[in-house]
Amino acid sequence: MNKKVAFFIFGGTGDLARRKLYPVLEKLYKEGFLKNLVSVYALSRDEGKLEEALSSMDPEFARLIKFYPFDVTKKEDYKIVDEEVKKLGGTEIILYLALPPHLFEHAIVNAGAVLRRHPNPRKIVIEKPFGFDLESAKRLNFQLKRYFTESEIYRIDHFLGKVPIQNILSVRFSNYIFEGIWNKNFIDNIQISATETLGLEGRGSYYDRVGALRDMVQNHLLQILCFLAMDPPAVMSAERIRDEKVKILASIRRFSEEEVDKFAVRGQYSDYIYELGRDSNTETFAVLKLYIENFRWEGVPFYLRTGKKLKEKKTQAVIVFKEIPGNFGKLLGCVPEPNKLIFEIAPSTRVVFRFQMMPPTGLLACTVESSMEVDLARHFGTEPPEAYETLLKDIVEGDQTLFIREDESELAWEIVQPVINRWKDDPEVPLYKPGTWGPKEANEFIERDGRRWVLL
Ligand code: BG6
Repeated sequence: MNKKVAFFIFGGTGDLARRKLYPVLEKLYKEGFLKNLVSVYALSRDEGKLEEALSSMDPEFARLIKFYPFDVTKKEDYKIVDEEVKKLGGTEIILYLALPPHLFEHAIVNAGAVLRRHPNPRKIVIEKPFGFDLESAKRLNFQLKRYFTESEIYRIDHFLGKVPIQNILSVRFSNYIFEGIWNKNFIDNIQISATETLGLEGRGSYYDRVGALRDMVQNHLLQILCFLAMDPPAVMSAERIRDEKVKILASIRRFSEEEVDKFAVRGQYSDYIYELGRDSNTETFAVLKLYIENFRWEGVPFYLRTGKKLKEKKTQAVIVFKEIPGNFGKLLGCVPEPNKLIFEIAPSTRVVFRFQMMPPTGLLACTVESSMEVDLARHFGTEPPEAYETLLKDIVEGDQTLFIREDESELAWEIVQPVINRWKDDPEVPLYKPGTWGPKEANEFIERDGRRWVLL
């Protein structure tokens, strides 16, 4: 990239900035992609652990990082942004809001007002969760649109930066064999799981306000659902891809608050309130069953599941095909397991197809489930880039394919809003033991449908 760019990172000494943004910017700078990076302004109330982070960086890159004490809620603090932008000439300004969501609006309004005074090309990047509910998301969009055009707004969902998630689109739309079977006639159900072993990790004050539904389901899991369910776009362009995702979000069956228990289950790990240090009914585990009301997916449940302190870290999307018809195998007492196509996103990055084979003992034996699989890293001989590397490059290049458009952000909230409302004041959260697969209610929920959870 030849153009000059400067980053203003609000929350510039926080966890995200230190763990993800600076290392990626440093890599892109050293590789020459960001050779015209002019400055990185780290704006934050205190310097925190920035010094420590700088000491392990390449000195040439570290000298580009400038710390300024900054309170995003104070209008007068934005003077420094004004002064620095003035000095930067025609440099492109990238405002990066690496902030807790309740501070987004302050930064949008105040920094937006400052940038209005300057002719520089600008972009604004906003971390998730984009708001707390539908109303606050609409408010954020309203404020954003006062100061920025949609093409300048980059709503981040870091899952979209993950190569094995993008690969879902490539596998679906670059292979003729899939399109014909990718529908209700062949697929019984789809399961999207992001199970984690970690707990609060010092993020209690953020997490307790948010919970699993807002932290993972409203964004990451719904985005995976869109990639799995959308129609092929007319062309692979940001707008056409996002149009197709929007159609899916709009087609998801809405349910009322009274119906929530039929479509959702939550849980909290039993040590949560001790770790947090206060009482709370925030869910650390959530399951949602969604139906897409269109010709392709009518009647096919999409199960979305996530939780903290579970048995294993596994992020997977599993397409479970229908059971075979007829009596094949039944005389022998063995009903073949249905086929499964699995996109494994973590811990490894694989695409696995599970199918039935005859064992060497011959036809009069039960078939055996076998696998065809591709491990992406082994296959391509290289580890896929970190999600933030892809996303930061796209931001600099102005490619919005992997970012959430305004209409998507609101539709995704619309889907989870009844669940938020229903759970908000209800103290009855089922508990589960850390190291398990969540509350027993989650198993009962899927078993009632005659199905079970599938994970590699
Ligand atoms: C973040 C959530 O968006 O995603 C975290 O805030 C979660 O709570 C994380 O742990 C999971 O992402 P990854 O990339 O580690 O699977």
